[in-house]
Amino acid sequence: MASFMIPFKALFFLIVVLHQSPSVFASSSSIAENETETLLKWKASLANNTQTLLSSLWVGGSHCNWVGITCDMAGTITNLNLPDYMLNLKGTLHSLNFFFFPNLVLLNLRNNSLYGPIPSHIGKLSKLTHLDLSYNTFSGNIPSEISLLKSLELISLSNNEINGFIPQEIGSLSSVSYIYFYDNHLRGSIPEEVCNLSKLIQLDLSLNNFSGSIPSKIGRLSSLSLLNLTANNLTGPIPTSIGGLHSLSRLVLRDNRLHGSIPEEVGTMKLLNTLDLSNNQLTGAIPTSLGNLNDLEASKSTFSERYLANILYLNFPFHKSSKLLFHLNMRVLFGTSSSPNRRGL
Ligand SMILES: *[C@@H]1O[C@H](CO)[C@@H](O)[C@H](O)[C@H]1NC(C)=O
Ligand SMILES: *[C@@H]1O[C@H](CO)[C@@H](O)[C@H](O)[C@H]1NC(C)=O
Ligand SMILES: *[C@@H]1O[C@H](CO)[C@@H](O)[C@H](O)[C@H]1NC(C)=O
Ligand SMILES: *[C@@H]1O[C@H](CO)[C@@H](O)[C@H](O)[C@H]1NC(C)=O
Ligand SMILES: *[C@@H]1O[C@H](CO)[C@@H](O)[C@H](O)[C@H]1NC(C)=O
Ligand SMILES: *[C@@H]1O[C@H](CO)[C@@H](O)[C@H](O)[C@H]1NC(C)=O
Ligand SMILES: *[C@@H]1O[C@H](CO)[C@@H](O)[C@H](O)[C@H]1NC(C)=O
Repeated sequence: MASFMIPFKALFFLIVVLHQSPSVFASSSSIAENETETLLKWKASLANNTQTLLSSLWVGGSHCNWVGITCDMAGTITNLNLPDYMLNLKGTLHSLNFFFFPNLVLLNLRNNSLYGPIPSHIGKLSKLTHLDLSYNTFSGNIPSEISLLKSLELISLSNNEINGFIPQEIGSLSSVSYIYFYDNHLRGSIPEEVCNLSKLIQLDLSLNNFSGSIPSKIGRLSSLSLLNLTANNLTGPIPTSIGGLHSLSRLVLRDNRLHGSIPEEVGTMKLLNTLDLSNNQLTGAIPTSLGNLNDLEASKSTFSERYLANILYLNFPFHKSSKLLFHLNMRVLFGTSSSPNRRGL
């Protein structure tokens, strides 16, 4: 009796497995079939002239030979790369069901005429490393499902009409090195969770409507090389933790409402070559850590011209090879005096 029961149980188990997780047994050819079908469905949803163009370029049996598509050895799609008006794609992503692209690594639809929301099913692309949807007219919010993109290294949503907040789930993009969200309608505060992204190299959130202060733990981003928060609505002081950004070469905070004084810690960022703090409400002195006044005097002849443009060039004493481009709002620093007063520094 027992000798009969065991194989029966095993068979039952196998049936349950087959029934519950067919994807375990999905062959690459069935993935490829679904991919072809999904691409054709998407094509059919696009504007008429886009369809006409795509129909002339997406011909032949295997989608791996279609324009903009790269496959792996098994014939499933890894790259969907159609940037820069290659086909001037016009339409939405609604019909491009990402569920059917389990092996996609690169999705680049930059600089087309795509619009509508970024679908939440984008979270299905668990192998995606490169997501570029910039320079379109996408709208709606950033879906919190982007947090499922654990392999993501670059995300660019710049130059769209995306609004709402950055979801705090962004903190789980543990592989991300490049975040470009500039020129959208994002608002709210910059989530503290951004400071968890230890691999971050460039963060550009310029030309949005972020408010609140710069996250106090920003100094944790020890790989950060570019921080651009230009033209937002940020208030509060420049956090002193900023001195922890040992890899930072460009710090651009212009056109906000930052106040307080420039922290002495700015001077500890040894790789800094661009510092632009102009058009804020900063007060106080230029920190002595930034350079000595002899260097300033050396460029005094150009200084008065530059003064009119609110731009000041200083030599950075601790790395002689590069010049520090130093933009400040002189009118705030110097009060109403019509000529720069060195002692005011
Ligand atoms: C293909 O799509 C069908 C539904 O349209 C789905 O049941 C099947 O699991 C998909 N196959 C793969 C390999 O994704
Ligand atoms: C696309 O073509 C169909 C039929 O040819 C037409 O009904 C529709 O208005 C066209 N759509 C656009 C956006 O031109
Ligand atoms: C968009 O593509 C066009 C045509 O290829 C190109 O001229 C333009 O510079 C691109 N724009 C951006 C922002 O990349
Ligand atoms: C991420 O940052 C938040 C807020 O700074 C913190 O509470 C949380 O513990 C961090 N998570 C991880 C996984 O480090
Ligand atoms: C910072 O952002 C502004 C606005 O998007 C842009 O014009 C500027 O070139 C950026 N600066 C750097 C150093 O990236
Ligand atoms: C920016 O956000 C504030 C509210 O935080 C709002 O009053 C203002 O109109 C917004 N500005 C733009 C240009 O969207
Ligand atoms: C900045 O925020 C204030 C207060 O929320 C708002 O009134 C103002 O319109 C915002 N400025 C911009 C440029 O969005």
